Amino acid sequence: MTETISCLTLLYLLFLLLSSIVLTLAIDYPLSTDSRWIVNESGHRVKLACANWPSHLKPVVAEGLSSQPMDSISKKIREMGFNCVRLTWPLELMINDTLALNVTVKQSFERYGLDHELKGIYTHNPSIINIPLINVFQMVVKSLGNNDVMVILDNHKTVPGWCCSNDDPDAFFGDPKFDPDLWILGLKKMATIFMNVNNVVGMSLRNELRGYNHTSKDWYMQKGAEAVHASNPNVLVILSGLAFDADLTFLRDRPVNLSFKKKLVLELHWYAFTDGVGQWKSHNVNDFCSHIFAKERRTGGFLLEQGFPLFLSEFGTDQRGGDLEGNRYMSCMLAWAAEKDIDWAVWAVTGVYYFREGKRGVVEAYGMLDANWHDVHNYTYLRRLSVIQPPHKGPGIKHNYHKKIFHPLTGLCVVRKSPIHESELTLGPCTKDEPWSYSRGGTLEIQGGQRSCLEGETSVGKSVKLGEKCTRIKQISATKMHLSFKSTDGSLVCLDVDSDNNVVANRCKCLTGDITCEPASQWFKIF
Ligand SMILES: *[C@@H]1O[C@H](CO)[C@@H](O)[C@H](O)[C@H]1NC(C)=O
Ligand SMILES: *[C@@H]1O[C@H](CO)[C@@H](O)[C@H](O)[C@H]1NC(C)=O
Ligand SMILES: *[C@@H]1O[C@H](CO)[C@@H](O)[C@H](O)[C@H]1NC(C)=O
Ligand SMILES: *[C@@H]1O[C@H](CO)[C@@H](O)[C@H](O)[C@H]1NC(C)=O
Ligand SMILES: *[C@@H]1O[C@H](CO)[C@@H](O)[C@H](O)[C@H]1NC(C)=O
Ligand SMILES: *[C@@H]1O[C@H](CO)[C@@H](O)[C@H](O)[C@H]1NC(C)=O
Repeated sequence: MTETISCLTLLYLLFLLLSSIVLTLAIDYPLSTDSRWIVNESGHRVKLACANWPSHLKPVVAEGLSSQPMDSISKKIREMGFNCVRLTWPLELMINDTLALNVTVKQSFERYGLDHELKGIYTHNPSIINIPLINVFQMVVKSLGNNDVMVILDNHKTVPGWCCSNDDPDAFFGDPKFDPDLWILGLKKMATIFMNVNNVVGMSLRNELRGYNHTSKDWYMQKGAEAVHASNPNVLVILSGLAFDADLTFLRDRPVNLSFKKKLVLELHWYAFTDGVGQWKSHNVNDFCSHIFAKERRTGGFLLEQGFPLFLSEFGTDQRGGDLEGNRYMSCMLAWAAEKDIDWAVWAVTGVYYFREGKRGVVEAYGMLDANWHDVHNYTYLRRLSVIQPPHKGPGIKHNYHKKIFHPLTGLCVVRKSPIHESELTLGPCTKDEPWSYSRGGTLEIQGGQRSCLEGETSVGKSVKLGEKCTRIKQISATKMHLSFKSTDGSLVCLDVDSDNNVVANRCKCLTGDITCEPASQWFKIF
C-alpha cells in the first residue's frame, strides 16, 4: 500500500474525517419511502450506503469476530463511510430453536473443527464464547446501533452455508428445502425480535431467487412482505427479483400489490458475471457499457422512474486489480450508480471467512477489509465507492444545480488545480464543490474566477485549461462518457488524464469496435 501514500491519500483521509463528522447524525428511524427515495420521519432523504456483513455461513456467527473485537469492526464500517450493514442470516436461525438457542459459539466452532478460529474468539471477543447463536446475532446488531450504523436483516438462504447456485435445494419457493410457510414463520419471528431495535431499518426477505423451478408466477414475495409488515410495521420491506436478483422486469406491468404503503423497496444485484461470463472481455468496453446501461434500465432501473426505491444490494469486484472483466465492469457500474444516485450495499466487508465451502480461512477478494479485518484492503477502491456514499439529490438534500465531472476509474472529479493555478485542471476529491455547468450548447463552465470555460486551445498530449473562450464539448460515444472537442490543429480529441492526474487532451480511444482497448481513462460522467 506504500504507493498509495500520496497527496491524494491525504486529501482522502481528510475527506474521511469530514464525512464521518457529517455522517455522525443520530440515525433517524423508522424509515419510509417517498416516491423513489428512502426518507426519515421528517421526509428528509436517507441514502443507504451499506456493506454486506455475512452471518449466514455454517458457524452462523457474523464473520470476523476471531480477528477483531465486534465493536472495532462496527467502528471500522462507520469509519469507511458506510452508514449501514446488510446483515445476512439463514432461515434456520429462526425456525430451528435448537440451532438458535442451544448451540453456543464455542459449540458451533468446535462442530466444524475451527479450533484456530475459536482461539481467535477467545482473544478478541471472549464474552461471546458461551452465548447462543441468536444472542450473538442480536449483539452484532446492537454493536452496529451503538456506532450509528443502520441494519438491513437479509434472509440469505435456508440452511447455513455459502450461497448461491442454481442447484441449491432452497433456490425458490417450493424447492425441497424451501417451504414457503416456514419462510413466512421465520420472517415473522425475525421481524418481531427486532421490533423495538431502532437501528434495524429494513428486512430483505429472500436473497437471489433462482433455480430450475423459478417463475415470476410463483413469486411469493408479497405474502412475505405482508407478514413482515404485520409483525413489524417500522421496517422497510425489500424484495428481490428473479435470476439471482438480476431481473425485476416482470414488475413493469404487474406492480407489487400490498395492503400498506411507503415501505416497499426493490433490490437488484449486479456483478461483472451478471452480464454474462466472458462478456466484458469479448466486447468493445464502451459499446458494451452502453448496452448494459440499457439492460439495467430494463431489468430494474425503470422502477426509479415508476417511483420505487431500488437498492443495489450486492455488487463489487476483485480488489487486487487483476480481474480484467471486473475492472471494466466497475467503471461502468460506478458511473451508473452515481448518476442514478441509487441506494446500495457492496459485497462485502469481509476480510477472511472462518469457513467457506469446506475450506477454512478463505480470503474475500471483494472484501473492504484485509485478512486481519482491520486495515482497508484497497484505498483506491474505497475512494471510488466514497463518491456514491453521500446523497446528491432527493427530498431535503440541498439542491445543487451544479454538475460534477466524475472520473469513475479513479473515483475522483475534475477540479481546479489550486486558486493560484486557476486555469489548470486536475482530478481531486468529488466532495470539493466545483460549480460546473454543462450547457445545452455543449460548453463546460465553472463559476467563479475570470477564466471559467473549458477551452480547446490545446493539442494532443497537452493539458486542457480553463479560459475565456468556450469550446463546444460533445459526448460523442454510446456511453456519452467521452468528452470530445476540436483541438488547435483541428483534430478530434477527448478529455483524458495523464499519470499525474492532470486533465489532458488525447486522441479519442476505444469509442467502438476494438475489444482489447480500455476506454476508462477517458470516461467522465457528468452528473
Ligand atoms: C431527518 O434527517 C434530517 C437531516 O439529517 C434531520 O435534520 C432530521 O432531524 C431527521 N428527522 C428525524 C425525525 O429524525
Ligand atoms: C436445549 O437443551 C436442553 C438441555 O440439553 C434441552 O432440555 C432442550 O430440550 C433443548 N432445547 C431445544 C429447543 O433444542
Ligand atoms: C436444528 O439444528 C441442529 C443444530 O445445528 C441440528 O442438529 C438439527 O439437525 C437441526 N434440525 C433441523 C430440522 O434442521
Ligand atoms: C423443482 O421442482 C421439482 C418438482 O416440485 C422438484 O422435484 C425438484 O427437486 C425441484 N428442483 C430443485 C432444484 O429444487
Ligand atoms: C391486490 O390485493 C388485494 C388483496 O389481496 C386484492 O383484493 C386486489 O384485487 C389486488 N389488486 C390487484 C390489482 O391485483
Ligand atoms: C486497488 O484497486 C485498483 C482499482 O480499484 C487497482 O487498480 C489496483 O491495482 C488495486 N491495488 C492493489 C494493491 O491491489
